Amino acid sequence: MKKTKIAILGATGYTALELMKLLLRHEAAEIVALTSRQEDRPVCLVHPSLTGRLDLPLENLTPEQVADRAECVFSCLPHTATAAVAPALLQRGVKVIDFGADYRLNSAEVFRKWYGVEHPDAGRLGHVPYGLPELFREKIRGASLVANPGCYPTSSILPLTPLIKAGMIEPEDIIIDSKSGVSGAGRKPSLKNLYPECNEAISAYAVGTHRHLPEIEQVIGAGSGKKVSVFFTPHLTPMDRGILTTTYSKVTGEVAEEEALEELRRFYAGEPFVQVVDALPSTKDVIYTNRCHITVRRVGARLLTISVIDNLIKGASGAAVQNFNILFDYPETTALL
Ligand SMILES: NC(=O)c1ccc[n+]([C@@H]2O[C@H](COP(=O)([O-])OP(=O)(O)OC[C@H]3O[C@@H](n4cnc5c(N)ncnc54)[C@H](OP(=O)(O)O)[C@@H]3O)[C@@H](O)[C@H]2O)c1
Repeated sequence: MKKTKIAILGATGYTALELMKLLLRHEAAEIVALTSRQEDRPVCLVHPSLTGRLDLPLENLTPEQVADRAECVFSCLPHTATAAVAPALLQRGVKVIDFGADYRLNSAEVFRKWYGVEHPDAGRLGHVPYGLPELFREKIRGASLVANPGCYPTSSILPLTPLIKAGMIEPEDIIIDSKSGVSGAGRKPSLKNLYPECNEAISAYAVGTHRHLPEIEQVIGAGSGKKVSVFFTPHLTPMDRGILTTTYSKVTGEVAEEEALEELRRFYAGEPFVQVVDALPSTKDVIYTNRCHITVRRVGARLLTISVIDNLIKGASGAAVQNFNILFDYPETTALL
């Protein structure tokens, strides 16, 4: 396999750590640069689990310096930080996979409303493929920039989209209830993520205001021609990692539970990373993997989907490696099975 030179921006964070672990198993991935604004030590001193595996130094590099070394950049930066550097990288022929939200929404106005700032590279919005290969594989192939999905959206979009496309559920009035492990908030310290605050506790946050809401509505509604409305409530749970998402939708007719399961099985047949299961799934079934497990229950007039992913892998770094494999024509499952 021809090797591809890789740079990782924001390499001190959680998603970057998972990414490095995956890429170290990838026979065609050569990590050549790791950036940090404040660290200049070997990365294994910042992430001790990399000891004996990767000792590249962390560096504060300009996009031009990164482009001189790398063919592909994984940007594990917070929102707006990637859009500030992506144009310079793309101009120099570097492919970019953005872990953040900068290129996920199609509209600069919607971005401004939910993120409270002007988009630094608004002209590209609407032209960047959404990096969920199970739905957009052909758009990702041949792209130079990919918008890796958010973790909650991945756990919601994968179960809902086939059922909306099949006309089995209404895209309006969908309730989404998600529970996430604390690593979903990243590595930077914050009061609510301190151990005494979140251990042995579960709490809702950002009720009706979470930034993943417009992303979910945009993707599940695409092409439906119908009004889409979602009520999304995320919860913080005392786990390191994992997301469990339950969605509640109105059925459009007499859709039986088994028919919905069959539709999901048909839609994801041959997909290596989406499993439609009969039993109620647990985050324990999928953590440390790039997999999503989904099941369905019919309760009264509502169809429920229950899905689980690892927020750091299928919800971030694993999906990014899947996208990398598609962009550079490697077998899509490389380093992910
Ligand atoms: N955590 C998840 O489960 C998850 C899932 C899906 C997507 N994401 C997205 O992936 C991205 C990374 O998330 P994460 O959880 O890895 O975050 P994180 O642990 O907080 O790491 C982000 C890193 O980016 C650097 N950074 C922070 N602010 C910056 C700025 N303004 N400019 C340049 N660099 C900056 C920091 O490194 P230095 O201080 O060393 O420079 C930091 O270590 C975010 O956009 C997040 O929304 C996260």
